[in-house]
Amino acid sequence: MRSLSTALTIADLKARARRRVPKMFFDYADSGAWTEGTYRANEADFAAIKLRQRVLVDMTGRSLQSEMIGERVAMPVAIAPTGMTGMQHADGEMLGARAAEAFGVPFTLSTMSICSIEDVASVTKRPFWFQLYVMRDRDFVRNLIGRAKAAGCSALVLTLDLQILGQRHKDLRNGLSAPPKWTPKHAWQVATRPLWAMEMLGTKRRSFGNIVGHAKNVSDLSSLSSWTAEQFDPKLSWDDVAWIKREWGGKLILKGILDSEDARAAADTGADAIIVSNHGGRQLDGARSSISMLPRIVDAVGDRIEVHLDGGIRSGQDVLKALALGAKGTYIGRPFLYGLGAGGQDGVTRALEIIRTELDVTMALCGRRDVRDIDRSILDEG
Ligand SMILES: Cc1cc2nc3c(=O)[nH]c(=O)nc-3n(C[C@H](O)[C@H](O)[C@H](O)COP(=O)(O)O)c2cc1C
Repeated sequence: MRSLSTALTIADLKARARRRVPKMFFDYADSGAWTEGTYRANEADFAAIKLRQRVLVDMTGRSLQSEMIGERVAMPVAIAPTGMTGMQHADGEMLGARAAEAFGVPFTLSTMSICSIEDVASVTKRPFWFQLYVMRDRDFVRNLIGRAKAAGCSALVLTLDLQILGQRHKDLRNGLSAPPKWTPKHAWQVATRPLWAMEMLGTKRRSFGNIVGHAKNVSDLSSLSSWTAEQFDPKLSWDDVAWIKREWGGKLILKGILDSEDARAAADTGADAIIVSNHGGRQLDGARSSISMLPRIVDAVGDRIEVHLDGGIRSGQDVLKALALGAKGTYIGRPFLYGLGAGGQDGVTRALEIIRTELDVTMALCGRRDVRDIDRSILDEG
């Protein structure tokens, strides 16, 4: 394998992941709902934001350290929760959590992960964050929250924007499932990625570790869409958020806010933070990009609740732009998955290094030394 140090951008890692990961799983990461218009807008709207170049400002002693929900972070970039991460690379969630821990940034484990909460806890020392999807079976939800507490998770990230699954054409065309089915098409996709296949043969973790064996009557869960249709609760309400907050009792982050009115309701719950997010363009195609909605949401609730953002971040420059527009923290979904697919734990570390370097150099060239002081004045707003 070519050294990961020759990967200079997240796009380089994406190209490598495409060569190493079977098509159905690579496509699962690199897809949005329907026309993928919102998925594309998330990235394009970042590119349209311009920075002010400043000169002859002391650039020594720069710092990227910050805080998210009161936790110290090496830079304000967390790993977003992503389902089926253990299909991008064997034991993917465990490797991602270890890379994040060593780097000093938060790792968020998805409910729909391949490695379980207990698996990730067994390979990390620092607390990670757990993302919750609310199922109809409230006993199962209660049990999941209890497992996250027992594992020492320091925040619960409650996702609000996926009670019904947005349609992603590629997943349907590919017949996505975990583990892969054994039709000739799927066998071919796996056979042409021998390194991935060998590593996958070396692990027993090939299904949904938080669910199979824990939820009633679920011994095998191959199709994400049928499980989602059966179990995700489309009646989820603000009252349920209050119930989950009580049940959890710790730091709570509400994920999937894209509207000022919802942001106000979220702030009223007394949660610790919201994530301005459209699920990486995977749910409501036709919604605006997260970065374009950020200023309005910060105006509406920024004095009451910490505001985070995800969606479309592909560089440290994008992180800086989100901070300039009022985010206290950011998350990366696909950049993490591409790093993982490209090179396992080292690939995730490489993705974080790329973003850190871009963030640091851009901040310096904008004439700033401390990431906590970034504000709108670094932007050229025309
Ligand atoms: C392959 C994939 C799986 C995802 N699974 C989840 C999930 O299980 N739970 C969740 O809250 N968000 C999930 N998301 C959304 C991410 O947490 C995040 O909102 C999104 O990826 C951010 O956009 P970005 O990929 O452009 O960084 C997923 C995203 C991707 C790409």
